[in-house]
Amino acid sequence: MARRIDLDLGERGYPIHLGAGLLADAGRLIGERLAAGPCLLVSDATVAAHHGAACAAGLRAAGFAPTTATFPAGETSKTVATAVELWQACAAAGIGRDGGIVACGGGVTGDLAGFIAATWMRGVAFAQIPTTLLAMVDSAVGGKTGVNLPAGKNLIGAFHQPICVIADPLVLATLPPREYRAGLAEVLKYGVIGDPAFLTWQEAHAAALAAGEPGAVERAVAESCATKARYVAADEREDGVRAHLNYGHTFGHALEAEGGYAIWLHGEAIGIGMRMAVDLARRLGVLTDPTLAARQDALLAAYRLPMTHPVTDPDTAAVRLAGRCRQDKKARAGRVRFILPRRAGEVMMVTDPPTEAVVAAFRSALGGPR
Ligand SMILES: NC(=O)c1ccc[n+]([C@@H]2O[C@H](COP(=O)([O-])OP(=O)(O)OC[C@H]3O[C@@H](n4cnc5c(N)ncnc54)[C@H](O)[C@@H]3O)[C@@H](O)[C@H]2O)c1
Repeated sequence: MARRIDLDLGERGYPIHLGAGLLADAGRLIGERLAAGPCLLVSDATVAAHHGAACAAGLRAAGFAPTTATFPAGETSKTVATAVELWQACAAAGIGRDGGIVACGGGVTGDLAGFIAATWMRGVAFAQIPTTLLAMVDSAVGGKTGVNLPAGKNLIGAFHQPICVIADPLVLATLPPREYRAGLAEVLKYGVIGDPAFLTWQEAHAAALAAGEPGAVERAVAESCATKARYVAADEREDGVRAHLNYGHTFGHALEAEGGYAIWLHGEAIGIGMRMAVDLARRLGVLTDPTLAARQDALLAAYRLPMTHPVTDPDTAAVRLAGRCRQDKKARAGRVRFILPRRAGEVMMVTDPPTEAVVAAFRSALGGPR
């Protein structure tokens, strides 16, 4: 049974459709929001090989005339150079002001295609068909689009909301298991920051989720999307409460950067970062439920996510990592912000905590070489 979650953003609001088999129906669902005509179907080459034909067929069946544009899979494609190629593809495909762009892929595809949609002809409609768990529960919802520069990730971008999101959990069957598990870290994040009942539900269904059991996955995606939709509706441009979605991210971004973006998938680094965030919360005396650390660890283990970041020199590495936090894109005017948990369902922002505490929190989840 398909579910629908509405992201309430007034005239920029949109439905998130979720259900097994919806990929074949994507053209019809997009057609409810956009007049049929030429559209650019953007995927990386891997996703195009698995799901491109089904997606294009659904679009054609609904009267659209899709032109497929692909790029090599991976974060290294999320560049201005790929954006130029996609703008040129828009020109070649005759995408006008009333045309559309359809992103079928993971977060890289969604961020790139969304950025093209935000900028082509000063903004055209785009639809998100996420094909990774991370994209379903996080990147496809909320309207953040962009590309990377050598100087940092996501430095160029725009807020541009999709006209709809269509998540079909069946497409996850082809996703590499490591990518799937990395997405579970974000699902766990929603369990900690959102409704405490969702954390309890994950504890009862951890094995089913780890195994990718369809019913459990669908419920987890629905709960996660609904939580993200609430935060985005309350604070579209991250001036306040939307920052709570960055739980674990200040630590995680430092770990990703330290590893040259080659050691960890994003979700893996966030999982370790959430352990460090609980440690920092405990050190600062803001953690009111001491059982949260063990509950979070148990779920990370059940999802077979890494628990520590490997280093040869933990003491000096912790100091170095704490220094990296100041370079985080989300540090404002040199001030470092951490989202820290108090208990399940309640987090708070702490700005510029004492450096010794941050160093110690990093140190708490650094391990020996892998
Ligand atoms: N916009 C946002 O709010 C937001 C939020 C979080 C992350 N992001 C961005 O998302 C990106 C990471 O997204 P991701 O983890 O989805 O990475 P990704 O798009 O690179 O996909 C990961 C890999 O899985 C493959 N893949 C995707 N779907 C598949 C499928 N169904 N079957 C087989 N293979 C498949 C891809 O080809 C790729 O190799 C980062 O660039 C990050 O900055 C954006």
